[in-house]
This record gives sequence, structure tokens and C-alpha cells, in this order.
Amino acid sequence: MMASRSPAGAEPVTEPRADHTIEQEWERYTPAEHARWRALFSRQAALLKQRATPEFLAGLDKLGVAADGIPDFRRLNEVLTKATDWRIVAVPGLVPDEVFFEHLANRRFVATCFIRSAEQMDYIAEPDVFHDIYGHVPMLVHPVFADYMQAYGKGGLKALGLGSLPQLARLYWYTVEFGLIRTAAGLRIYGSGIVSSKTESIYCLEDSQPNRIGFDLRRIMRTEYQIDRFQDCYFVIDNFEQLFEATRPDFTPIYRELAQLPDIASNQVLAGDRLVAANPPR
Ligand code: PHE
Ligand code: CO
Repeated sequence: MMASRSPAGAEPVTEPRADHTIEQEWERYTPAEHARWRALFSRQAALLKQRATPEFLAGLDKLGVAADGIPDFRRLNEVLTKATDWRIVAVPGLVPDEVFFEHLANRRFVATCFIRSAEQMDYIAEPDVFHDIYGHVPMLVHPVFADYMQAYGKGGLKALGLGSLPQLARLYWYTVEFGLIRTAAGLRIYGSGIVSSKTESIYCLEDSQPNRIGFDLRRIMRTEYQIDRFQDCYFVIDNFEQLFEATRPDFTPIYRELAQLPDIASNQVLAGDRLVAANPPR
């Protein structure tokens, strides 16, 4: 059976607007699609209880509706606008960088509507609604992280003009998508790409293979990344204020400085790296 919507499959009824947004058309999801959401949701709930950062779990809790099935963005938006004045907008798939940044800069998070197929429960290369909503939206409930995401959007528009998007994109990758945070109880996950993945939520914290390195803005901006397998390294923040403050300065001189320096392979360890120990296996 074809899913009612897939990136290459049946098109939404409405044409995308000038800003690339569409209607979610929540009524069109099938019972099988809602069941896949529930399966993904309960699997992650069990894994993340002791692995996700408390701020993520609190955000998920506050959004409330997410356990029943694919959420109706209109309902999520009622909670989200009250919490941090963010809003979810639906898009058909990946949007141009400029469009993406413009939405973020205006506190709008773009989310895809389709859900992965039954065969893709363990791995999907492109973002689907489970990744975009379950993975990203709980952190948007957190005031400091919500401001960081908006600042990133504004920074993205600037980086585009300066030709420094590869450097800025690495910051997004190693924080928003694959970030780890130190807590009193040990390392925890806040990155959306991890929390929406069963296998990587265990690997990133407990496996001896990857390097875990203390947050360092310039180091991150020089570090390459892989999009199609587990990460070779993760960067660890101490708290969200640290992340926000470290990224507050104008990046223009930093981009100029980094243009003189070589990139760093994702599996490399440098003399100045502060390595963080893995959590013991659970
Ligand atoms: N301070 C950054 C700049 O001048 C903007 C930014 C903030 C980028 C937070 C990313 C994250 O470009
Ligand atoms: Co994402």
C-alpha cells in the first residue's frame, strides 16, 4: 500500500504558497499512518526517558497531544505560540536555504507532513514528520533554545550573503541535529536527529566508537560531517545559555578567520579537544 503522501508520491491537494508552505491536511492521514507514529513514539519514549535531556522531555510533555497519532499542527501551534511564540508551518519537503532561514528568523519552523513507510521505521535518510515534529518541536518550547533557533535563522541569511553557509551549517548539524549536553546525571541528548533515531540514541551516549568533544564554536565550524551514517563525533554543551552566548557575537570576522584554516575530518581528535567520557551502558 502506498502511503497517502510521500515526497515522491501523491501531491497535496493545495499548491505551495510563495513562501513554500502548504496545508498539513491532517484529516487525510490513514489509520496505518497514525499507527506508525504511535509505534515510533512509544519506542522512543522508552529509550529517551533516561537519555534525552530533561528540557526535551518537558517540552514533549507540554505539547501533550503527541502520543495519540500524527499531531495536528493547529493543535501543536496553540501550545507553542503560548509557550515561546513559535509556530509550525507545513512544507512539502526540503525548501531552499533562503526560505528555510527566512522562516526561522520569523520564529516559524518548517515541517514535512509525510510519515516514513513501514520499511523505514529504523532508518530514513530524509526528514519526515516524525523527525521534524517529535525531534524538533519539543526543544522549541524551551525559551533559550527557541531564541537560539531564531538567531540561527538570522545568521543563516547573513552567512548566505558572505558565502559561509558550509561553516554555519556545521553548527546546526552539531547542535540542533546532533547535540549532546552534560547533566548531573550524565550525558544527555538534545539533538533532533538523534532523538528521532532508535539506534543512534543509544550509540551516541554509550558506544565507545565516537568522540565526544566539549563545545567549541570554531572547532565545530571546521568539522566535516556525514549525513548517511552514525556520527564520528558529537559536541557536548554544558547548558543552553552557553550555546546561546557563544553564538551571540557577529560571525563575520570568525568566517574570515576560518577561511584560512583547513577543515577537520569528523574522526580526527585535536590536541586542544576536551574529550568527554561516554555514559556506561544501561
Ligand atoms: N551570531 C551569529 C552571526 O552573526 C548568528 C547566529 C546565532 C548564528 C546563533 C547561529 C546561531 O552570524
Ligand atoms: Co532536522
